[in-house]
Amino acid sequence: MSAAEPLSYDAIVLGAGAAGLFCAARMGQAGQRVAVLDHAAKPAEKVRISGGGRCNFTNLETAANRFISQNPHFAKSALARYTPWDFTSLMAVHGLTWHEKTLGQLFCDQKSGAIIKMLLDELDKGQGELRLGTQITAVTHADGVFIVETGAGAFTAPKLVVATGGLSIPKMGASGLAYDIARQFGHDIVPTRAALVPFVFTGADHEDFASISGVACDVRAAAGGAAFEEAMLFTHRGLSGPAILQVSSYWQPGEAVQLTLLPGTDIAGQLKETKQGRPMQTLASALESLFAKRLAELVLRRAGLSPTARLADQSHATLDSLAASLTAWQVRPAGTEGYRTAEVTAGGVDTDGLSSRTMESRHVPGLHFIGECVDVTGWLGGYNFQWAWASAAAAAERA
Ligand code: FDA
Repeated sequence: MSAAEPLSYDAIVLGAGAAGLFCAARMGQAGQRVAVLDHAAKPAEKVRISGGGRCNFTNLETAANRFISQNPHFAKSALARYTPWDFTSLMAVHGLTWHEKTLGQLFCDQKSGAIIKMLLDELDKGQGELRLGTQITAVTHADGVFIVETGAGAFTAPKLVVATGGLSIPKMGASGLAYDIARQFGHDIVPTRAALVPFVFTGADHEDFASISGVACDVRAAAGGAAFEEAMLFTHRGLSGPAILQVSSYWQPGEAVQLTLLPGTDIAGQLKETKQGRPMQTLASALESLFAKRLAELVLRRAGLSPTARLADQSHATLDSLAASLTAWQVRPAGTEGYRTAEVTAGGVDTDGLSSRTMESRHVPGLHFIGECVDVTGWLGGYNFQWAWASAAAAAERA
């Protein structure tokens, strides 16, 4: 064979991330000759850094309502056909174990490197070829065959699976290739935005939040019609932590975020009770029984109250309004930290142009989009990997 002759396969997968490797492994094991192309030097880097290195690989509460998409029904079929238990069964075959941390989130006991090894072993089992460090320069389609031009020559196949992810963390090699290919073949793109991402603030809020950077507090955070009860973290740039990351996926620029600190706690009632039992206690120490010291001080400063003032000297109306400022705290982010730190990209390839059973393009037979590049964005907590596995399995089933 001459060097210029294209290498031909049954299927080419673009992107050796969670979705691409898993799809290629399954197609290979179904007897297809598969090549996986990726420009990165190492496969599945996002799996490696996920879940603080322990890979929160799925969530037991997986259901379509934990995903954001213009078509809330689209993910149902794939998620129903490849479940969290299917993935844990595969892990068991590879001797991997897991534990549930909280809210249905499953983490790998052997750390994320073991999940990557499992994906690569599965790819090997199907004799799939992995070609890293491969720059993709063009994709064309003629006579039922896709031609992928790369820095290492051309690859052809009647089936092309695009699994190059979203725009989050560009320094790890994220690119908009999937959206470019989708547009090229007549697909619409639902406008993309950074999701599962911290908020940034300007002015007094920025200064206040930065001054207590590192402090965490349980909150209910609500925006864009959704609300989440989890921890919130004050940062040098604004607000982060699970409750904030979750609500960021629903937030629209310019919108206020409603915060309820210590949801489920009757703050006013507690302050009044303390006033009755220990009237000489200061406002600061009364609040410190509920919040971290630095947060308690900030809360009082923002309310214009002296930390050394005695509870005895506070009217019930004052305590009520102090409590109300904490249970109906409205903050207006200046924006988000953007794709630089976002865990995922919301929006993407419009599901209207894809089959929900097979992820195949309705415009071009043989073309598939899976994983994060599709307009299906999971909540925090393992949902995005479950979508990667499920959409990959759906596309592979068609092989
Ligand atoms: P993914 O991004 O994994 O893979 C895409 C692949 O395509 C990459 O290998 C990339 O190099 C390649 N590629 C991109 N552009 C290319 C181009 N132009 N040419 C060739 N190759 C190209 N989710 C979860 O469920 N649980 C978790 O614990 C976490 N934790 C987490 C932490 C952090 C810090 C981040 C950033 C993200 C998470 N996520 C997560 C989200 C999760 O990592 C993400 O949703 C999946 O990795 C998406 O899988 P994909 O395979 O679709 O894309």
